[in-house]
Amino acid sequence: MTGHVEGSPAVETSREALSERLFDAGLGMLDTLVVYLGDRLGLYRAMAGHEGMTSADLASRAGIHERYAREWLEHQAAAGILEVDDPEAGPGARRFRLLTDLDSLYSMAPMARSIVACATVMPQLQEAFRTGGGVSKTAYGQDAVEAQGDFNRPWLLQSFGAEHLPGIPEVHARLLADPPAQVADVACGAGWASIAMAKAYARLTVDGFDLDAASIDLARRNAAEAGVADRVRFDVRDAADPAAAGKYDFAVMVEALHDVSQPVAVLAAIRGMLAPGGSLLVIDEKTGERFTAPANPAERLFYGYSVVSCLPEAMTDRPTAGTGTVMRPDTLRRYAREAGYRDVEVLDLGLELMRGYRLIP
Ligand SMILES: C[S@@+](CC[C@H](N)C(=O)[O-])C[C@H]1O[C@@H](n2cnc3c(N)ncnc32)[C@H](O)[C@@H]1O
Repeated sequence: MTGHVEGSPAVETSREALSERLFDAGLGMLDTLVVYLGDRLGLYRAMAGHEGMTSADLASRAGIHERYAREWLEHQAAAGILEVDDPEAGPGARRFRLLTDLDSLYSMAPMARSIVACATVMPQLQEAFRTGGGVSKTAYGQDAVEAQGDFNRPWLLQSFGAEHLPGIPEVHARLLADPPAQVADVACGAGWASIAMAKAYARLTVDGFDLDAASIDLARRNAAEAGVADRVRFDVRDAADPAAAGKYDFAVMVEALHDVSQPVAVLAAIRGMLAPGGSLLVIDEKTGERFTAPANPAERLFYGYSVVSCLPEAMTDRPTAGTGTVMRPDTLRRYAREAGYRDVEVLDLGLELMRGYRLIP
C-alpha cells in the first residue's frame, strides 16, 4: 500500500464535526470514483502533454462521448484536480489541462481501483456479515488484482533489492553466493517481489505461487515484460501445500500472511521448504502493538481494508484464523512459534505502512 497517512488521531468532539467529517469522506469517495473513470478510460493519459483540451478534443482523443467528457472535465476542475483556462467560456469552449505530471496523478490510482472493487461486493459482504461466511477473491475482480500489484510495485522495484535485502547481511550474502540461490515468493500476487529480487540478484531463480489464477496470469505477463521470465516461474498453488521440502534458500511473503486462512499451517509448510540456513521474510502491515481508539490514519486504513476485503476473503475457508489486516506483532510471533520457528527478528524497513519480520527456523 502507498499513500501519505501521517497525522494525529482524529477525535471528533461534537456531533456536527463528525457529520462534517463523514460528508467530507463522501466527497472523497465521489472524487475517487471519478478519478477511477479517468484512470480506466485513459482520460488523464489522453490529456498528458496537451496545453488545453476542450471536451470535444478529449472525446475524440479518448474515444468517449462528448457529453460525458464535458461532465468529467467540469467535475475534475471543480474538484481542483484539473485546471481550466477560462471558467466563463461557453461549455464547449473551455480548455482543461493537467495540473501535475501523470505519475503523481497515478500514484493514487491503485487506491481508486481497489475501493471500486470493494464497492462491487457489498451485497455479498452484507450476506457474509450475517452468516459468518466470506467473499471470494474472484468476486473482487481484475481491478482488485491489478490494484494490489500496483500498490506494492513502486517500493518493491525501488527499494526491496537495492536496500531491504542488502540490509539483512546473511540473506544478501546467500543471494549472491554459489550455487545460485533458489527463492520462494509465497502468495506472490502480481509477482513484483519475485521480479524485484531477480533484477537485483542476477543469478538466483524464484518460484512464485499464489492460489489466485488471475494473479498468476498477471505475474507471468509482468515477468515477461520485465525480461526475467527465464529465472522467475509462477504457479497456482496453495501456500499450505508442503510440496518442495528443503528446496529454498530464502522465502518471502509480502502483505499476505494476514490474508491466508491458515497462517500457522502456511508458516509450517514454508519452514519445511527451507534448506538449512534458510529463513523467511514476512512483510506485513505496520500495525500498532495494541488496539487504540481513535487510531491514527494508518490503522484506520488497515481496518477499512480489513472490513471490506482482507477479513471476508479469509473467512471463505473453514477452518480459518480470520486474522484480518490488523495483524499485530504479538499475533505474528504466536503464529511463528506455533509453526515451529525458533526466532522472529522485527525489521524496520523504513516504509510508512509496512514492517518486516524475519522468521528463523
Ligand atoms: C494482499 S495479496 C498480496 C500479493 C503480493 N504478495 C503483493 O505484495 O502484492 C495476498 C495474496 O495472498 C494470496 N493467498 C491467500 N491465501 C493463499 C494461500 N493459501 N496460498 C497461496 N496464496 C494465497 C491471495 O490470492 C493474494 O494474491
